[in-house]
Amino acid sequence: MGRPLFTLIPHNARAWYHLRYRFAVVFFLVALFHQQHMYIVSRWALRAKYSPTNFNIYSGDLQPRFSIPDDQDSQLQDELVANRAAWKVLGKGCEGKVFAYKDLVIKTYTPGRSPFRNCAPDAATATKWPTEIPASLHFGGSSRPVDVSEDASVRTTNATYQGFLPVKTYFMASTTPGDPAEWHLVTPLLKGSNLNALASYLSTSAEASTFRDVDALYRPAFNRFLGSMQALHDAGFCHDDIKTDNIFVQDESHWVVGDLGNVRELLHPYHSSRIWKENGQLGDCRANDVFRTLQSYLKFIQLAVADQDTFNMAFYEGEEPMSRLFWWTLANAQSMSAEKLRERSITDYPDAAPRLEHNSFFRPTRPHTLLSLFSRQSAVRRAVDEALATRMPDKKARWWGMVWLFGVPDSGHCEA
Ligand SMILES: Nc1ncnc2c1ncn2[C@@H]1O[C@H](COP(=O)(O)OP(=O)(O)OP(=O)(O)O)[C@@H](O)[C@H]1O
Ligand SMILES: [Mg+2]
Repeated sequence: MGRPLFTLIPHNARAWYHLRYRFAVVFFLVALFHQQHMYIVSRWALRAKYSPTNFNIYSGDLQPRFSIPDDQDSQLQDELVANRAAWKVLGKGCEGKVFAYKDLVIKTYTPGRSPFRNCAPDAATATKWPTEIPASLHFGGSSRPVDVSEDASVRTTNATYQGFLPVKTYFMASTTPGDPAEWHLVTPLLKGSNLNALASYLSTSAEASTFRDVDALYRPAFNRFLGSMQALHDAGFCHDDIKTDNIFVQDESHWVVGDLGNVRELLHPYHSSRIWKENGQLGDCRANDVFRTLQSYLKFIQLAVADQDTFNMAFYEGEEPMSRLFWWTLANAQSMSAEKLRERSITDYPDAAPRLEHNSFFRPTRPHTLLSLFSRQSAVRRAVDEALATRMPDKKARWWGMVWLFGVPDSGHCEA
């Protein structure tokens, strides 16, 4: 026979004190254990995020592209530095600033803002440089000839290469005398800016467009953009930061893969990190890029139309070509590729008559629970905004990883 329960409850003040004390100790130990666990996994995730991208630059023909700029560029660099006052600010990011000067864009990277992940190829200095520079050289190519036999006209072209921006030049220079030197990356200016800017222009233009008009007009650009994504993936890399801001607009039918600062190889540890998983990114970073491309395209249409509620309802109902494409992609997200989505998008084109079979479509779950709290319109708006969200914050990992105290984990030193 056990003792009656009430006899286990302490009946004097001293016993209560001891029990509370034990609870406090146990609570403290559990909290400490949790904090240590979160600290370790968060530091690991941040280390993975900021570890270098492996461009395999020492394998053969890519190597010449990664050399430090030589005298061929110095004329352009001198002109840019001498006219710094005439640069117009295009934007400010977490890494530095973006300026426009004549038909060029100059992106600067302030040391200490966001850690540089890759080692610069100059063995003497053993310094790091922003991953965006080797990534841009890799995919957009340099507008300097790689060897002397190359056609000199290549050097002056502003044309994009397979949907990537060519590098006009890159160099280190101080913004003001005495300040530490910053990396500069120079690319041609695309007059159309990005998908966000294009959407806000369309939404305020005199002729208001319906989502069907916008989709019909820009679907070819979207399909072509998927071709560029395929090229990136075939080369063994993912973009990892596809969003409306980073899809640059060359013209009505050509969009460019911009902001290559997050490019990583397929098997990069970031793709299996806690930050990646907590943000609901797909296991295969290629499928993830493709899904984000579609989310960005639909976000662009939503922002471009005069009547967003009509777009939201059509998207949510899953009947229109653009929304059929989304729900089909979501149902097959894990195995999606740029090529598959492009094929589907071409077959189920905005104006295509007869509609494809419906029974294989994944249907969105209707937000019943929200309907009682909000109007149907705002419930649908929330559901659509959630479905099209591309944000990928690492605030939680930074907080648990105590970045405010210890900084971002070091991803390793460069060998001199
Ligand atoms: N070559 C270009 N032509 C036209 N606009 C450009 C070009 N490069 C950048 N921009 C504009 O500047 C904005 C910011 O550029 P980018 O995305 O490269 O840097 P960022 O977002 O500041 O960097 P990060 O995302 O790393 O903080 C883009 O969204 C785009 O509107
Ligand atoms: Mg950007």
